[in-house]
This record gives sequence, C-alpha cells and structure tokens, in this order.
Amino acid sequence: MTRVEAAGPNAGQIEYWNATAGPKWVAMQESLDRQIGPLGQAAMESAALAPGERVLDVGCGCGATSIELARRVAPGGSVLGVDVSSVMLAAARAAAARASAMGVTFADADAQTASLAPGGFDVAFSRFGVMFFADPTAAFTNLRRALRPGGRLAFVCWQALPKNPWMSLPLSAALRHMPPPTPPAPDAPGPFAFADPERVRRILEGAGFAGVSLAPHDADLVVGGGRDLDGTVDFLLQMGPLAAALRESDPALRGRVADAVREAVAPHADAAGSVHLASATWIVTARNP
Ligand SMILES: C[S@@+](CC[C@H](N)C(=O)[O-])C[C@H]1O[C@@H](n2cnc3c(N)ncnc32)[C@H](O)[C@@H]1O
Repeated sequence: MTRVEAAGPNAGQIEYWNATAGPKWVAMQESLDRQIGPLGQAAMESAALAPGERVLDVGCGCGATSIELARRVAPGGSVLGVDVSSVMLAAARAAAARASAMGVTFADADAQTASLAPGGFDVAFSRFGVMFFADPTAAFTNLRRALRPGGRLAFVCWQALPKNPWMSLPLSAALRHMPPPTPPAPDAPGPFAFADPERVRRILEGAGFAGVSLAPHDADLVVGGGRDLDGTVDFLLQMGPLAAALRESDPALRGRVADAVREAVAPHADAAGSVHLASATWIVTARNP
C-alpha cells in the first residue's frame, strides 16, 4: 500500500501524523485505547450500527475502532479504515490480523481528498479523527458523497480545553515553569478545532448534511488508561497539549515540569495510583439526506 504523500492541502498534518505524533500513538496505543475507548463506544452507540452495514472509519489510526466497528456490523458487514499515517496504519493492520478481525480493510488515504466509492457506505464514523482537515467543509462534502442517501455520520470530538481538566490541569501546572506555547490560529486544524458547536454545525450543514446534532458528553477518564502515578505523568508529558508545549520549550525544564504535573494530578489518583479526571466531548450525528 503506498503511503500518503505529504502534499496537498493537508501536507502539514500528514507530515505531523507520520513523523511526530504517529510513532507516539503507536507506542502508547494500549494506554490510549483504554483511556478514550469509552468515548469511541459512546459515538458508536449513537450510530446505531446494524449487522451487514458498511462503515467508513475516518482517521482510524491504530485500528482499535475499526476492529470494534467490524464486530458490531457482523455478520455480513464491512469496515474501511482510512488514515494519512502509514506508521499508525501498519499498527492497525497488525492489530486486525492479531484479532482475526473479519471484514476490515485499511487504506492510506486523506479523507478530505480521497476518491471514495460514491454512496458506498451506510455509516461514516470517527473517534477524534476529523478535526485535522485544512478545509473541513470540503472534507465532509467528500465524506457525505461516500454515504448512501440516508447514510449516517457519527463522531466524537473534544470540547474546549478548559472543559477538559484531564488536559488543562497538567498544562496549567506545567505553565508555571515554562513559557506558554504559541497559540494556534483560530479554527486551525488540531484537537480543539471542533470545540465550537456552532462552527461544527456550519461545517456539516455547509457540506450538505441534515439533522445535525451535537450531544454534550461528560465522562471521567482514567488518564493514560490505568498506569501508576509516574506512568501517568510520563503519558501526559508525551501526549496532548502539554506535549505540544514541551516540544517548543527548553528540554532542561522537563524535570521541573514533570514534578509540577505529578503534584497537580496526585490528588486525583486512586489507591492503585491511576489518575481519574473529567473530560467533555461532543457526540456529533448527522445524516446524508
Ligand atoms: C487523534 S488521532 C485518532 C486516531 C484514532 N481514531 C483513535 O481514536 O485512536 C487522529 C487521527 O486522524 C488521522 N488524520 C489526520 N488527518 C487526516 C486526514 N486528512 N485523513 C485521514 N486521516 C487523518 C491521523 O493520522 C490520526 O490517526
């Protein structure tokens, strides 16, 4: 399978998900799947999947959702996972083989620009894989055309950073010891690009979707998926907004930052040391008229 060339409108994100974030997601995938698995399952519930359906898993990453979706549409269903990160797709293919998953295939493809079979899917699903498009209206138009008339869209995305203490609490603690990161351009692709519900509604309706709904979903997360306290701190220094800020700062600050993060999250640890903190997401659904 040819890897997606880091070119076109999403060249920067394609490079980022292959060179910087992809290898970290592969290394941390078990922890990530345990942490965000319940959020993906909430989005799957909202998709009301039925046996025999054909599902497109957008930005499928290391494939855990594609495997779970295939289980939910068996017998007779199928799942195509698409992603721009070859390194994550290699992990996805290996995971599907290990799980002997039936009806799952993967494609190295940019969901914004890929030629997808028109009307070829009953459902387009994503767990945190649709906030990285340079032109989200063009991307969702492309995804809608891949749905049959009446086909459904269901995805989960983050609400704003301050509503997600699992990310904002460690970041605030760290920022007492390091300079603030460069703020992203408004509406720039990134984890919080879909935080504003009105923007999401505008994009989806602009792409031709009907019945757009954003349901707020609040859930406590086991940060890092149930590591001990030191393991959780290590996870937080490598993933999410804190990791992005650290990449821009003097590596000599890392020790002090780690101590501050540990102190901030320790009060939220259970007896085993696993840290529990709140999250807020949108469960977004819509349909192709
Ligand atoms: C936050 S990760 C989520 C991965 C996976 N859905 C999960 O929940 O484990 C975002 C994913 O979107 C993918 N992605 C970013 N831009 C994309 C694009 N234009 N087309 C397809 N996938 C994209 C990334 O490579 C990455 O795998």
